[in-house]
Amino acid sequence: MTRIALVTGGIGGIGTAICTRLTKDGCKVVANHHPSESAVADAWKKERAGEGHHIETFAADVSSFEDSARMVKEITEQHGPIDILINCAGITRDKTFKKMELAQWEAVMKVNLDSVFNVTRQVWEGMLERGFGRIINISSVNGQRGQFGQANYSAAKAGMHGFTMALAQEGATKGVTVNTVSPGYVETAMTLAMDETVRNSIISGIPMRRMAQPDEIAAAIAFLASDESSYMTGANLPVNGGLFIH
Ligand code: CAA
Repeated sequence: MTRIALVTGGIGGIGTAICTRLTKDGCKVVANHHPSESAVADAWKKERAGEGHHIETFAADVSSFEDSARMVKEITEQHGPIDILINCAGITRDKTFKKMELAQWEAVMKVNLDSVFNVTRQVWEGMLERGFGRIINISSVNGQRGQFGQANYSAAKAGMHGFTMALAQEGATKGVTVNTVSPGYVETAMTLAMDETVRNSIISGIPMRRMAQPDEIAAAIAFLASDESSYMTGANLPVNGGLFIH
């Protein structure tokens, strides 16, 4: 049976690795992207096709409940009900707290945390009714340990796992699992945007002395998305090179 997977933020650094991996694993994958990125998404889709992976793209602003509802309705009409949801859309607006403005707090909360409600709410009842579902929330090591300059991001990422732990209990008897994956620093545009000195100082503090490759994160997600992870729910899987061990 072909499972249908929706990956929010699917054309980003980690998102791309997840989409490719789940496609290789036999899923029908839809990569969500922000409506402002449609041209990039078209090029992305062609690039994936060139690699032999046919992945659908779908524009929707997941920080909007209405747009998320429209997206899930249309994907369901075109491809069938969503079995696997990966909440991967995320942004940073790093600032020391004394300089952080309300807009920077709100942007991160809306995209990183509200989106998890907005999209999961659309697929949840269908998963319960069908007796199968996988929700995987992509949090961060910085949601577990906090990070200087990321009060907004750390709060949103910690909030994602609170959501996971609560919802896991509501899906547990229905075959619907809800888990978090907390990546450490991954080689993507997001981490490349950091000042080089700051980035090097962070890498020197990682026990493995390197960032992760996106595929190393996707491997953990692939397991949680598979039928094999059936007894795992409410967990927070760290993939951080030893940066935060607890
Ligand atoms: N601990 C303590 N002090 C620190 C510090 C730290 N980790 N980092 C910086 N500082 C200090 C500096 O030494 C400096 O001190 P002085 O003022 O005494 O000289 C001060 O903080 C700098 O403060 P500013 O207000 O001037 O800050 P800035 O504008 O220069 O830079 C920042 C602030 C943008 C937050 C910068 O520190 C930064 O980029 N930090 C890294 C944030 C980070 O890790 N982002 C991750 C992005 S990737 C991601 O989020 C993916 C994921 O999930 C991992």
